[in-house]
Amino acid sequence: MTATAAPPAIAVSGLRKAYGDHIVLDGIDLELPRGSVLALLGPNGAGKTTTVNILSTLVRAEAGSARVAGFDVATNGFAVRGVIGVTGQFSAVDGLLTPRENLLLMGRLHHLDRADRGKRAAVLLDRFELTEAADQPAAALSGGMRRKLDLAMTLVGRPSVVFLDEPTTGLDPRSRRVLWDIVRSLVADGVSVLLTTQYLEEADQLADTVAVLDGGRIVAHGTPAELKRAAPGSEVRLTFADVAALGRAADAFVSGVRDDATLTLAVPSPSDPPSVRAVIDRLERSGAVAEHLEVATPGLDDVFLALTGPDARKVAS
Ligand SMILES: Nc1ncnc2c1ncn2[C@@H]1O[C@H](COP(=O)(O)OP(=O)(O)OP(=O)(O)O)[C@@H](O)[C@H]1O
Ligand SMILES: [Mg+2]
Repeated sequence: MTATAAPPAIAVSGLRKAYGDHIVLDGIDLELPRGSVLALLGPNGAGKTTTVNILSTLVRAEAGSARVAGFDVATNGFAVRGVIGVTGQFSAVDGLLTPRENLLLMGRLHHLDRADRGKRAAVLLDRFELTEAADQPAAALSGGMRRKLDLAMTLVGRPSVVFLDEPTTGLDPRSRRVLWDIVRSLVADGVSVLLTTQYLEEADQLADTVAVLDGGRIVAHGTPAELKRAAPGSEVRLTFADVAALGRAADAFVSGVRDDATLTLAVPSPSDPPSVRAVIDRLERSGAVAEHLEVATPGLDDVFLALTGPDARKVAS
């Protein structure tokens, strides 16, 4: 054990950024322990890219502090740039070069020697399943392949902290999974990842911690499971063959929400088997026979909708 523990990958405190009188970040705090993944969620314009830009030294904050691997982004940008890799929201691929040439160019920017550059490019092309397209102009790549090349380019310099700004936007489900696997293997190698995403499933799949950004503040912070627990509760949805059966069931469940158009009754209930069993028992006692039963648990989408946007802000204030 050393006396001083390694600093967290990212430590942000009271970070503030405004463009004119538009406050984008109104004092946010974030921490990313080493070797873990933090997902930053938020609606369009919430300030996700702005946060990434501040942490990667492209944009200056007005107030607060931000450290990456212990280096202050405001006073030690050079050191920060030496340890990070950034896959921006918009592609950094040069369409006139081939994927291999793009990677070799990055290798040169990272001062790798010629042999090392070639090896690194080949390894990354293989890992991202880009070998077949490696020697055609990158302009001909599909959107998804270009995205993968973007991430491959980020990894040339073996960064220890990686920023991924909406890494899988526009990817098909298979490519998205390839990318998720790569992120997981990076983390297994000890790399720390901050990713922004619009896909709540992505945060659920990859993130140790999720921070939800809205109205310039972090409005929720926790593991995906913790956030889901804070979401609107789960329910048992019962569907009936006719209005008579629906009516009989609705009488038995005072808290149920009845929808005559779809002949369903949504009964708020925990999703564990004994609770669901209790709903079924009560339904049987009512004499109504349901045609279909579905246990619906809240996803991160529900959390997102409950926490962000004008309605959520009204509730919070
Ligand atoms: N250079 C700039 N000048 C003025 N306003 C800016 C600038 N960059 C960003 N903004 C504003 O800051 C706000 C946050 O933008 P940002 O790009 O960080 O959002 P985001 O969360 O990444 O959104 P998206 O999900 O659409 O990518 C927006 O209202 C945007 O218009
Ligand atoms: Mg953005």
